[in-house]
Amino acid sequence: MTRPNATNKEHKMKFDEFIVSKTDTKGKITYCNEIFMKMSGYEECELLGKPHSIIRHPDMPKVVFKLLWDRINAKEEIFAFVKNLSKDGSYYWVFANITASVDIKGNIIGHYSVRIKPNEDAIKLMTSVYAQMIDLEKVGGVEASLIFLTDLLEEKGVSYDELVISLQG
Ligand SMILES: Cc1cc2nc3c(=O)[nH]c(=O)nc-3n(C[C@H](O)[C@H](O)[C@H](O)COP(=O)(O)O)c2cc1C
Repeated sequence: MTRPNATNKEHKMKFDEFIVSKTDTKGKITYCNEIFMKMSGYEECELLGKPHSIIRHPDMPKVVFKLLWDRINAKEEIFAFVKNLSKDGSYYWVFANITASVDIKGNIIGHYSVRIKPNEDAIKLMTSVYAQMIDLEKVGGVEASLIFLTDLLEEKGVSYDELVISLQG
């Protein structure tokens, strides 16, 4: 699949909107709601069965997705500020919660994500934090951006969860 070229055009979520999607255990989309389609610019048939990375934006550091998968594979939820790429190259920021869905025996059978409009001040901060992480990843890979994140959290004296939840407010 050819990826859209990222542009500087932004679409903002509305306060009363929720973007919802479900995936299989590998991250292939099995469900998306109307708002997901509206924001991403894709039709349902273009999304179902596709990897969720179809909307991955190049400004997102790899480490965020590593944390995401580590957490959900451990059946723990994660919150994250995510910049997504729409079909036309524009972008939209979300504040996402991602969880694993488990069966009665505790086996992971898929994943679920709900996103809301992110806090604007948080996006200003995360834009700069993610840009620094991407630069570090170019040289030192995910290990380098993980050290940067760990140092940042230590400096602020908070956990990752405390940071993102407090930023969303
Ligand atoms: C339920 C669920 C929702 C996800 N939502 C997004 C999303 O909105 N945007 C995104 O870039 N990645 C999302 N991901 C992560 C992608 O699966 C993938 O790890 C990420 O886009 C990085 O792709 P890459 O490793 O191919 O670069 C989601 C994963 C799951 C399981």
